[in-house]
Order: sequence, then structure tokens, then C-alpha cells
Amino acid sequence: MQDKLNQIKSDYLNQINKANSLSQLDQVFLRLFGKNGEITILPKDFPSLAKNELKVIGPLFNFVKQELEKAIDEKRHQVKEAGYKTLATEEWNPDQLIEIKKRQGQLHPISEFEKKIADLFIKLGFQQFDGPQVDTDLNNFELLNIPPQHPARDMWDTFYINSGGNQNKLLLRTHTSNTQIHVMKELKPPFRMMTIGRCFRYENLDARHEHTFDQFEIIYVDRKLSMANLQYLSEYLLKGMFVDDISVRLSPGYYPFTEPSAHIFGTCVFCKSKGCKICGNTGELELAGAGMIHPNVLKNCGIDPEEFSGIAWGVGPGRMAMLKYDVSDLRSFNSADLNFLKGLSSESK
Ligand code: DAH
Repeated sequence: MQDKLNQIKSDYLNQINKANSLSQLDQVFLRLFGKNGEITILPKDFPSLAKNELKVIGPLFNFVKQELEKAIDEKRHQVKEAGYKTLATEEWNPDQLIEIKKRQGQLHPISEFEKKIADLFIKLGFQQFDGPQVDTDLNNFELLNIPPQHPARDMWDTFYINSGGNQNKLLLRTHTSNTQIHVMKELKPPFRMMTIGRCFRYENLDARHEHTFDQFEIIYVDRKLSMANLQYLSEYLLKGMFVDDISVRLSPGYYPFTEPSAHIFGTCVFCKSKGCKICGNTGELELAGAGMIHPNVLKNCGIDPEEFSGIAWGVGPGRMAMLKYDVSDLRSFNSADLNFLKGLSSESK
């Protein structure tokens, strides 16, 4: 047993001496002191030793154990110090740096799409304006010619905020049309404005309806505007966003804040008006609501309807983007599915 201990000591001191990295030292440590390490298992043989033999072996065992532990500690220290020294003398060479691939961020496809719409209208002199997403009942409904109890309110059910008083009751705006009020109260005509922003509705969700969505709205007030300007602007938008040979049809519609009101249809970009399942075989797609601003709304904002007329016009960029990118469910845009979103981004095309 004595010889064995001396043998272990000299073998391992030798190994410790030769080791020149921390991981080699760790290996030596495990071979000695790990679960089945040579030093760990040795005391199992002690019960078979004679008493006087044990008197010698016991202290020798402790001595060898401490010697080896100390040797490993000292060598660890030396290896670390040597490492620091080489680091301190090493030349800084940027070429040796590993290239870490950049993870490039990008605009959400809807934001990208909206930016394109805004760019189109900036060229025509329309300025961008932001309206509040939380607004009063007055601005979202009443001044837009939708008094309380008006049946048209059924089209725009929303989330109300418990804020006391009646007329100034706060709500999440149901459309960007509230911005018409803010713009027209603030600016002297003539002006051309546009706004893009988030709207909210208490909706039954399906492939074409979300409770939270964006709208794009233009507000154009000048002398002698007519439905002809509206027709032109609608064509301008659809040609700019889709294809050049798209044609536009205005059909009569109803909105309390416009008179006359119109639904804007474009020839179906998928079947070129032949009829397909996307357009429900009608050959055209409804893309926007619009009209001449109602005289009451102009008056509510301090604009004389005898002198000025206005065009207002609202679309859902999400619905347009569905068509552009051939996406069958509006909700996928908010799905946070990065593969889907990256696939639609123009940067990845
Ligand atoms: N605010 C309407 C809606 O959300 C859309 C709209 C229709 C906007 C006609 C307008 C307009 O400016 O003139 O359904």
C-alpha cells in the first residue's frame, strides 16, 4: 500500500507538471479526486489493513492527497498567469475577428405598404397628419354627423372608456375619419391632408375583420372640388399600388359624413374582371369608402360649405395588402410569424 501511494504520487506529480492548460489539469484532478478517482477509492482498502500498518498508511495517505491537491492548485495558478501574459503581449489584429452575421431588421409589410401609399400622395402635395387613437365621442361620431342613437352607429361599435360625462365620453376611434375633424378645425382651407393610423372596433373576427387595424384617409378641401377629383384620386391610388390597367368604378353608397357617398371598386387584379373566387365572380373588388364631405361636417368645423367643398376617402391598407400579396387571412399580418412576414417584405424579394 505504501508503494502504491508513492507510485500514485510520483505518477501524478509528473502528469501535473506536464499539463499546460486548465482543461488538462481538470482531467488530472478528475482521475485523482473524481467519483472513481484513484485517491477517492483508495480508503476502501483500509479495513483490510493491519492496525500497525494503518498507523503508517493513514498519515501517508493524507500527506499524498494534500501534496497532489496543492500541486494542482499551484499549477492552475501558473497556467492562468502564463495565459494572461500571452494575452497582454498579443497583437490586436482585426482580421482575426470572427464575422458575426448581422440580423437585419425590416419594416413590417403593412408599414412598408402604407409608406408606399403615403409616398404616392406626398407627390400630389398631401401632407401627413396624425390623429388621436383615443378620442371623444364628439370627434369620432357627433361632429361627423352621427348623433347619439343614430342607426349608423351600429356599423362602428367600439370600446368605450369609462370617463364620466356624456358628450366627451372617450372611446377607441373606429376610423381615421376623426382626424378629418381635427384637421378641419385647425387649418384654413384650401388644404390637402392624409393620415394613416390605428383603428379599433368591436368586431366578430374573421379572415377580413380584425378588432385592431389601420386605415388610410385623405381629406382634401378646396373651392370647386367634385366627384371627378375623387374618381381621379381613386384611379391614381389603385394604379400606383396595383397595376396600370386597373379601372375604377364609383358606386353610390351611404356614409353619414359624406354626401354623396361612394364605394370605390377596382377591377379585380387577379382575374382582370373575368370573375374569380377572390372577387366572388363579380370581376371587381371594393377597396375604399369615400365621398364629398357633408356640408354639416364642414360647418361643424367652421368651414363655409357655400365656398368650399371637400373630398374624404378611407381605405384599409391591410385589405389592400391582402390583395397585393395574395394573402387569404388578414390576421396573418399580426401573427408574428417571421417567415411569413419576411417573405412579403420587398427587401427579401
Ligand atoms: N370611415 C369609413 C369607415 O371606416 C370609411 C370612409 C368612408 C372614410 C367614406 C371616408 C369617407 O373619409 O368619405 O368605414
